[in-house]
Amino acid sequence: MSRIRSDKYRSKVMSADEAAKIINNGDNIGLSGFTGSGYPKVVPVALARRISETRERGDELRVSLFTGASTAPELDGELAATGGVAMRMPYQSDPQMRDAINKGISEYYDVHLSHSGPQVRAGFWGNLDVAIIEVSIIKEDGTVVPSSSVGNNNVWLEKADKIILEVNSWQSEDLEGMHDIYSMHLPPNNNPIPLLEAGSRIGTTFYDIDPERVVAVVESDQPDRNSPFKPLDDQSKAIAGNFLDFLANEVKQGRMPDNLLPLQSGVGNIANAVLAGLLDGPFEKLTSYTEVIQDGMVDLIDAGKLTVASATAFSLSPEAAERMNDKAAFYREHIVLRPQEISNNPEVIRRLGVVSCNGLIEADLFGNVNSTHIMGTRMQNGIGGSGDFTRNAYISCFVSPSVAKGGDISCIVPMVSHVDHTEHDAMVIITEQGVADLRGLSPKQRAQQVIDNCAHPDYKPMLQDYLERGLKEAKGKHTPHVMSEALSWHTRMLETGSMKA
Ligand code: COA
Repeated sequence: MSRIRSDKYRSKVMSADEAAKIINNGDNIGLSGFTGSGYPKVVPVALARRISETRERGDELRVSLFTGASTAPELDGELAATGGVAMRMPYQSDPQMRDAINKGISEYYDVHLSHSGPQVRAGFWGNLDVAIIEVSIIKEDGTVVPSSSVGNNNVWLEKADKIILEVNSWQSEDLEGMHDIYSMHLPPNNNPIPLLEAGSRIGTTFYDIDPERVVAVVESDQPDRNSPFKPLDDQSKAIAGNFLDFLANEVKQGRMPDNLLPLQSGVGNIANAVLAGLLDGPFEKLTSYTEVIQDGMVDLIDAGKLTVASATAFSLSPEAAERMNDKAAFYREHIVLRPQEISNNPEVIRRLGVVSCNGLIEADLFGNVNSTHIMGTRMQNGIGGSGDFTRNAYISCFVSPSVAKGGDISCIVPMVSHVDHTEHDAMVIITEQGVADLRGLSPKQRAQQVIDNCAHPDYKPMLQDYLERGLKEAKGKHTPHVMSEALSWHTRMLETGSMKA
């Protein structure tokens, strides 16, 4: 059966190239897409073609791209390669987009994911000219079924002058019923969000769109494209094991129930490995209030260990995406996909007592965390939702190998070269070496915990020496840094290719 079931919309069907002509130089475009799922797949490619042709003629065509989070080569990659992206926000992880940002071709605004939609709604970003949104079905009554991510789509659909819908028949029709669309308002008109459990449903299963603003409907049948996760190795298994031991001890100490509290698991390989660890762990009837559904979470649902997961998107390997498509009718009993202003909402995260678990690039002795910048200057991906969850979690955890790049880089450093999460927010740091529980500790006490439990043996003596000299120099001051050396490890890395002295 056709996926475009409303006459009102059928008359607006056109090719991706025709739809791309609707976009003008200088437009702010809100696109669907979140961690490689639910992004439009044919209009961005057509737009990239048009931008390249226009620029080759010597005319200007540059646009600003707002999404839910990262997308895939067909969107970020193709558009970044044209040089026609003026501004990108919020999270991205595409190599070409990263390159355009780090070369200064595209500007980038790295903002908490829960803030990104509301800031556009509030008008902080000026006018939203166009929305390009992937959906799975346009129903007879004109309501629209979302696809594999929700992200900021509710805001883009509410605010955009013109709407282009990409109806993707690759997405399972059985996704209908999985979504829970509930929008915030402009202050001071917000009520408490009535979400009392991770799996609560408080909104609609569809987008209600103003048909007058829909200027084009484009059909596609392309799969969501995500890279497979790195295979589990001894290191990621050790990190997962340490996280599980930490959780077990929290239960033993009476600080968490037997089935834990709703878990949030970040993006990336290490966070996925932690989920895989839970599969063999002792915990049952788990719940999750998180941002993305990764392979590990689908496996936990299959194993009957995870009863419900709330998120805003999938972030699945090609194999797991096929599994989701085949069994969406089963998974929608266990998964709720919400707008990111709700999945990442501080009010809800705090109320539910979420336990957060995110990756890091580096942490310092005092518990400050850098999630985004390589050597203080080069953007990796962005802060994503890690700040939304870390600051508001019941217990905020970070997981990482203790070293990177074959041991030339220590992920535990005297001072982070960029701060995303401060010492006031990060509670627990976990590496393959062990767990540094920083709750209730002063900076001096935290530093010793981090050295003893998280640092790699190759770097322990250097960190201990730094701390001891800091304690001497600080002479009773609160945070024992040696200021003249605080960033010397990064400088050494840039000059010699290694942090080792
Ligand atoms: N210096 C230089 N490079 C480093 C590094 C450091 N201190 N630490 C990690 N890296 C590199 C790794 O070598 C790897 O590079 P590669 O892709 O070339 O192999 C890359 O960063 C990713 O690291 P990896 O160890 O595989 O971890 P990951 O896939 O779990 O990603 C983050 C880690 C921090 C990049 C990722 O978690 C992230 O983007 N976080 C920010 C957003 C976030 O937390 N979102 C979740 C919110 S819900």
